[in-house]
Amino acid sequence: MLEIKNISKTFHPGTVNAKTAISGLSLKLEEGDFVTIIGSNGAGKSTLFNAIAGAFYVDEGNIELDGKDITFVPEYKRSRNIGRLFQDPMGGTAPGMTIEENLSLSYLRASKGSNPFSRITKKDKEIFREKIKTLNMGLENRMNQPVGLLSGGQRQALTLLMATMVTPKLLLLDEHTAALDPGTAEKVLNLTKEIVEREHITCMMITHNMHQALELGNRTFMMSDGKIVLDVRDEEREKMTVDDLLLRFREGAGRRLDNDRILLSE
Ligand SMILES: Nc1ncnc2c1ncn2[C@@H]1O[C@H](COP(=O)(O)OP(=O)(O)O)[C@@H](O)[C@H]1O
Ligand SMILES: [Mg+2]
Repeated sequence: MLEIKNISKTFHPGTVNAKTAISGLSLKLEEGDFVTIIGSNGAGKSTLFNAIAGAFYVDEGNIELDGKDITFVPEYKRSRNIGRLFQDPMGGTAPGMTIEENLSLSYLRASKGSNPFSRITKKDKEIFREKIKTLNMGLENRMNQPVGLLSGGQRQALTLLMATMVTPKLLLLDEHTAALDPGTAEKVLNLTKEIVEREHITCMMITHNMHQALELGNRTFMMSDGKIVLDVRDEEREKMTVDDLLLRFREGAGRRLDNDRILLSE
């Protein structure tokens, strides 16, 4: 469903600051794949997501989503099919606008594109309320409060709902629970699992937690120097331990995984 062929991206090419963040990377996701992605800082994980979401056009190679070549489709158009969450809970929502307004915006964008005549109906608002009830955070009683008043975890849960309100073809999660306290992180992670399973969303999740990487989803990528150096799935993955993963990384990348955050995380 997502097929990436040999993409590369160099920032500041031809200068002393030239940095090749993605280097001849290819991958193919099946419908319903839930891939966890792990790798050192600077491995190119976020840059891969930026390339998929269309934050820039890649220097070479191409990207297909659902059989359609999107290599040169602009980001705002891709965003109708690709949902995205970042580490910073403040990133995904408009703080001065109410919960209902935030939901309306994301719903209109994903369902009707840029049609200036589209409107939110009373029925839509009822659906928003029902959806937000499923978060079990009591937010259905705060629909008219500005999002800026919510806690980080509540905002991240809301952002998740917004990104999946109209089921995206692909959901990209970039360490979306890393900035939350452990309890809240677990809650948001469980919500993520629930929504992804219920809506059968194809999903890629960057995490620095090796245990999480093996527990969640059906497939794990490891990235190093702008490449995928390990791709394990299903049965092979089920048998793997964190130590196996570290060993396989060393074999694939030709060096140790030099990231304290990864090694130390439970
Ligand atoms: N917009 C940018 N301009 C210049 N360099 C960038 C930019 N984005 C990322 N990089 C560089 O590309 C490399 C990969 O970064 P990134 O994809 O953010 O890594 P990761 O998410 O795996 O930690 C890093 O060396 C980073 O400094
Ligand atoms: Mg990153």
